[in-house]
Amino acid sequence: MRSAEKKIEVGVRIPGEAAEYRIACGSGLLDSIGEVIRSATGDVRRVAVISNRKVFGLYGERVELSLKQAGVSVSSFMIGDGERFKTLKTAEKILAILNSEGIKRSDAVVALGGGVIGDAAGFAASLHLRGVALIQLPTTLLAMIDSSVGGKTGVNSSFGKNLIGTFHQPTAVIADVDVLATLDPRELSAGLFEAIKHGAISGERLLRTTEKMIDARGHDPKFIEASTRETFAKGIAEHVKFKASIVKGDAREAVGDVGNRSRKILNFGHTLAHALELATNYRYLKHGEAVGHGVIFAAELSKRLELLPPDSINFLNDVVHRVGGLPAVNKIDFEAVLSALSNDKKSRGGSIEWVLLEGIGRPEIVSDKTFPVGLLRSSLKAYLESTR
Ligand code: NAD
Ligand code: GLY
Repeated sequence: MRSAEKKIEVGVRIPGEAAEYRIACGSGLLDSIGEVIRSATGDVRRVAVISNRKVFGLYGERVELSLKQAGVSVSSFMIGDGERFKTLKTAEKILAILNSEGIKRSDAVVALGGGVIGDAAGFAASLHLRGVALIQLPTTLLAMIDSSVGGKTGVNSSFGKNLIGTFHQPTAVIADVDVLATLDPRELSAGLFEAIKHGAISGERLLRTTEKMIDARGHDPKFIEASTRETFAKGIAEHVKFKASIVKGDAREAVGDVGNRSRKILNFGHTLAHALELATNYRYLKHGEAVGHGVIFAAELSKRLELLPPDSINFLNDVVHRVGGLPAVNKIDFEAVLSALSNDKKSRGGSIEWVLLEGIGRPEIVSDKTFPVGLLRSSLKAYLESTR
C-alpha cells in the first residue's frame, strides 16, 4: 500500500551557484518524482538513472513510471553494490554510459541509492560535458541526512577514501522515508551513527531529535506506523537544515578555515573512520559504523586533551549504545590503522586537522602537531582494545 504524499521542504542556496535547490523529505514522494524533477530542472527531457540491482529491483519501476508520466525519457543503468565499487573504474563506466546514451548538457543524471551510488554517479555527472544536472534520490538514512546534500562527490582509491572527487551541488534531493522500511537494520543503525555525529557537533537539540528517531525505530523497525515515518521525515529535515547551514558558509571546505563553523567540522569522526575502512579494505565495517567508532574515539581524544568533560563522553556513548552498539574493532591490525592515518597525513601536507569537541555542539579543529608525543598511538591502542 502506498502512503499519501506528505513532505517537508528545505531550501539550500549556495553562494555563487545560480539557483537554490530544494530537498524534499517525507512519505509517499517516490511517485511524484517525475513532476519534482521536471520543475527543478526547467523541463528536462531525458535522464539517466544510476542505481544498483538491489535498490532498482525495489524502487526502479516506480521511479521510471513517475518520470515517464511526467513526459521525461528514461534509461536506467546498474553499477556494483557496495563501497568496493566506489572506484574510478565505476565512474569511467558511468561516463561511458552517459556518452553512449547521448546525455546532453540540458539532460540530467538521477542517483537512486545510498551514498555509494550518490557519490559515484554525482562524480560522473560533474565530469560529463563538464557537468550535467544531478538529482539525488537517497534511499539510505545516511544518504538522506548527509551524503545527498552539500555537493561532495567522489570515489575511493588505493591512496585513500574519497581523495578523488569534485564539488557538484545537486539540482534537487528527494528523500522518501517509506523506502527505509526495506533497509537492512544494520544499515539503518549506520545512518543513525552518522546522525549522532551531526548531533555531537551541532548541539543537544539535534542529539535529542536523533534520540527520537532511535526510539521510533526501536518500537517500529519496519516503519509500518505513519508516526514513525513522520518522526523520521522531521528528523531528516532537521539534519539536512543543520548540514545546509554549514555548507552555505563554506561550500568548498576552504583550506585555511579552521573556525568552528568551517565545513571541516562535518568530518568529525571521519579521520579514524576512513583509516578503519582502508585498513579493512572497505569490507568489515559499514561507513556509518566506522563513523560511530570515529566519533567515540575523537571524543576520547578530546577528553585526554582535557577539552571535553567526562559527562559529555558518557552522554555520547549512551546514545551510541541505544542504537545497538558497534562491531568490535580490536582484531583490526593496529599498525595498518596507524599506517592509514599516516598516509592520510602525507596527502594532507604533513599534519592532520582533527575535529575534536570542547562540549556537545562545540567542535574545535586541532592539528595533530600540537598533540603530546605518543598520545595518538596510546589512545588508539587503548580504544581498539576497549571494543572487544
Ligand atoms: P551504501 O550506498 O553502500 O548503501 C548501503 C546498502 O544498502 C547497499 O547494499 C545498498 O544497496 C542498500 N540499500 C540502499 N537503499 C536501500 C533500501 N531502501 N532498501 C534496501 N537496501 C537498500 O551505503 P551508505 O551508508 O548509504 O553510504 C555510504 C557512502 O556514503 C560512503 O562511501 C561514504 O563515503 C559516503 N558519504 C558521502 C558523503 C558526502 O558528503 N558525499 C557524506 C557521508 C557519506
Ligand atoms: N560529509 C562531510 C561533508 O559533506 O562535508
